[in-house]
Amino acid sequence: MQLIDGKATATAIKAEIAEEVKKIVESGGKRPHLAAILVGHDGGSETYVKNKVIACEQCGFKSTLLRFEDDITEEFLLNEVRKLNEDDDVDGFIVQLPLPKHISEQKVIEAIDYRKDVDGFHPINVGRMSIGLPCYISATPLGITDLLARYNIETSGKKCVVLGRSNIVGKPMAQLMMQKRYPGDATVTVLHSHSKNIKEECAQADIIIAALGSPDFVTADMVKRGAVIIDVGTTRVPDASKKSGFRLNGDVKFSEVAEKCSFITPVPGGVGPMTICSLMKNTLAAGKKEYYK
Ligand code: GUN
Repeated sequence: MQLIDGKATATAIKAEIAEEVKKIVESGGKRPHLAAILVGHDGGSETYVKNKVIACEQCGFKSTLLRFEDDITEEFLLNEVRKLNEDDDVDGFIVQLPLPKHISEQKVIEAIDYRKDVDGFHPINVGRMSIGLPCYISATPLGITDLLARYNIETSGKKCVVLGRSNIVGKPMAQLMMQKRYPGDATVTVLHSHSKNIKEECAQADIIIAALGSPDFVTADMVKRGAVIIDVGTTRVPDASKKSGFRLNGDVKFSEVAEKCSFITPVPGGVGPMTICSLMKNTLAAGKKEYYK
């Protein structure tokens, strides 16, 4: 069994990005600029956004954080999005989710100029990805394809089970694994809460990508010997032995699955660190106007 080290891979990719940014700036080009909007004080969102700002520094990007209280109106937020759309200095931006209940996330996502949508959530980017056109790809699935590629994991003709059908992980992940290139060319099955025979389907898979948010869902009896296991789960589980009072628990029961597989991502330190790294890749592409002029 080989452990897939997402932390080390993310560090290496960020160093590569920083090197490229240095060259761009030295030759008179513009330093990529990522802006982030954070509404309210959700603990998870605060941490994510803080880590995104730190990653920007590591990559040599300019970053701007716009913070608003959770009682702002939808119209106010839409207007802030419009301002960022029109700000020529901002190459890409994100609106951290979740948003307060009185604000429509879909409306906000669709208000973002797709050419600056480095989260890859806008329907134009989702649609372009599904037909294989250049676009921003949602960070978690992009990070996973990078891990598969960096570890030279064979995907062509393999049976890949994606557990979960969320718009930001499961669905794009399935699209990427079936795309006509590497990593891809896999035979993809998407399983979700209404699927039958989940255990049997998983037991036939060469690659399992678990993105359910259900701690320890994938057990050893569901895994074929030699399978590749990608664990996207990061559920906060109470743990008195931790300073924070919780630990992150994956969707895979690592203690019993690890010895059966060929490759596995740990939680934490697997997919998680790659997610922010992918946002940095998208921001570099935005700065270079790689996909959209
Ligand atoms: N909330 C959880 N993950 C994400 C993400 O990738 N982007 C944004 N904008 N919000 C999130």
